[in-house]
Amino acid sequence: SWTPEHFVDSAVAALQNTIGPDDQVILGLSGGVDSSVAALLLHRAIGPRLHGIFVDNGLLRQDEFASVLKAYEGLGLNVTGVEASSEFYTALAGLSDPEQKRKAIGRTFIEVFDREAQKVEGARWLAQGTIYPDVIESVSVHGSSVTIKSHHNVGGLPEKMNLKIVEPLRMLFKDEVREVGATLGLPGEILNRHPFPGPGLGIRILGDITPEKVDLLQRADGVFINLLKEHGLYDKVWQAGVMLLPVQSVGVMGDERTYERVVALRAVTSVDGMTADWAHLPYEFLAEVSNKIINQVRGINRVVYDISSKPPATIEWE
Ligand code: XMP
Repeated sequence: SWTPEHFVDSAVAALQNTIGPDDQVILGLSGGVDSSVAALLLHRAIGPRLHGIFVDNGLLRQDEFASVLKAYEGLGLNVTGVEASSEFYTALAGLSDPEQKRKAIGRTFIEVFDREAQKVEGARWLAQGTIYPDVIESVSVHGSSVTIKSHHNVGGLPEKMNLKIVEPLRMLFKDEVREVGATLGLPGEILNRHPFPGPGLGIRILGDITPEKVDLLQRADGVFINLLKEHGLYDKVWQAGVMLLPVQSVGVMGDERTYERVVALRAVTSVDGMTADWAHLPYEFLAEVSNKIINQVRGINRVVYDISSKPPATIEWE
């Protein structure tokens, strides 16, 4: 029968057989479960000949780049963190259309990743954290699965650098990937992390993106996520986050009338992201989140809760 230990043993043996003794392997790390588990598996098989590349696109959650990079280093992985926020902001300047934003982010990611990958001498392989549902999805054309694929896709790099593809998780379901990750010692912080879209906060800032808006959203999102964790609710929802809306509303603070931004909280339950229900979070909890965001994040004076399910709504707003 399938056990994560057996899987690790046979996958490591297979990787050692496939990857030549002097071959170097490149892998894009996202902080998500799949790429992290792929990295640990490859690291067990070939050690520092695995070269992880983790790009800060300036659209990650608050403190995420530093904390995830630290976790990877703590696991002994050979990882290069690439701070490229300003390149992404430049590419995004003035863009408001969701698909144009996705394309700009995807294109910039490929440029940054290519540049880093080309620094790795002796690179023969490009590893990917593709899992079984990705393999199936890539033949269907459903909703955002196409854009999900287009983000995972690393452009023309394999041809350009003459790299072969290695996908050690391609026969696994998500729960199996998590079991393998646990066996390999992946910390709970990464193992149980909610899904997070490749374009990150870029599709949670409705309309155009500026570094100021990213900062505002990171702080509001940080309040929401930290409170979910404190109240033991984080693991009860499939995904949660904050959307920065392109509207301002009137409020009052002391004797002053304010005219500031509105955010929407989004939290859903789901099994696979294809359908989802809005999470019935306790009113008292929502009240605490709202008060804390409005008190701590200057520039936001109103918080609303999204009570739409998928379908017909989607999990993200863009
Ligand atoms: P929707 O909004 O389509 O989202 O209900 C379903 C799941 O997919 C994620 N998502 C994306 N992931 N690139 C990604 O890597 C994208 O462009 C993208 N759009 C949505 C979303 O976070 C949810 O988990």
